Amino acid sequence: MNSTQNFDGWVKSVQVAMEDALSAFLPQADIAPERLHQAMRYATLDGGKRVRPLLVFAAGALFDANVLALARAAAAVEMIHAYSLVHDDMPCMDDDVLRRGKPTVHVQYDEATALLAGDALQSQAFIVLSGQDNAPDRTLAMVRLLADASGAAGMCGGQAIDLASVGISLSLQQLEQMHRLKTGALLRASVMLGALCGKFPSETEEAALDAYADAVGLAFQVVDDILDTTADSSTLGKTAGKDAADNKPTYVSILGLEQSMALAEQLRQNAHSALAPFGDRAYFLRELADLVVRREK
Ligand code: IPE
Ligand code: IPE
Ligand code: MG
Ligand code: MG
Ligand code: MG
Repeated sequence: MNSTQNFDGWVKSVQVAMEDALSAFLPQADIAPERLHQAMRYATLDGGKRVRPLLVFAAGALFDANVLALARAAAAVEMIHAYSLVHDDMPCMDDDVLRRGKPTVHVQYDEATALLAGDALQSQAFIVLSGQDNAPDRTLAMVRLLADASGAAGMCGGQAIDLASVGISLSLQQLEQMHRLKTGALLRASVMLGALCGKFPSETEEAALDAYADAVGLAFQVVDDILDTTADSSTLGKTAGKDAADNKPTYVSILGLEQSMALAEQLRQNAHSALAPFGDRAYFLRELADLVVRREK
């Protein structure tokens, strides 16, 4: 087996494990209120690349983390992510009808159900994360980390800047700040949560992980902006060309396609450099940086 097969096999195994874990951690569809539970499951299961869980597991592998702890942390981040997508697609935000190749939650169900499904997914994330069988101070640190990354200082803050910036030309610095918050924060949290599930990182290791997560987090949204202009809807599973149609400030609209691609490549290299202190042990994190930048959807 060569190393690419090894990585691909590992990705598959995490994706399969996550599907099972998420299914178990979500409220069952046949328990009341059924429609809400069904919408939560519809938004979360059977779709998505599971990049955040992959980061949790890859970082955890560096610190000999317990697999059950990792599954809870990864499921929690993925639930926050799924909630962010449900709300991001609603008519009051990006008004999208297609997500992960299926009708968006408000289209499949209705707006009120989509709003509540997002709300309940957020709560469910913290229910799952706080159920960690860990030392209480460790669990509390994880809860705080995920809350910071999701809230006004993280994803929600970034989404607010995104909505306030429609039709406005942002400086590169403002755009970077928006991307770091709306997308980078949750990716960074994924890496840090994975590490917290294992042996405590040293200060040097924590700084290295932080630099890695920062580069990968920003790269992820730069590539999302690129794919919006270069890929088609059936590959993406969401409507292509939507950013320009909505007059959103993106890396492509500000830097152009070529420079955006060069930036993504630079960030990929920064992510690799950051991992130097871990040597070969960081194989999965290194491959994930490549996956984030070279993905086609
Ligand atoms: C899309 O995230 C939204 C952004 C934060 C850019 P993903 O590209 O990770 O979406 P899924 O989970 O694979 O559907
Ligand atoms: C959304 O960014 C980031 C979130 C916090 C959900 P986008 O609006 O660019 O994500 P897509 O392109 O709809 O997936
Ligand atoms: Mg959006
Ligand atoms: Mg969107
Ligand atoms: Mg996008």
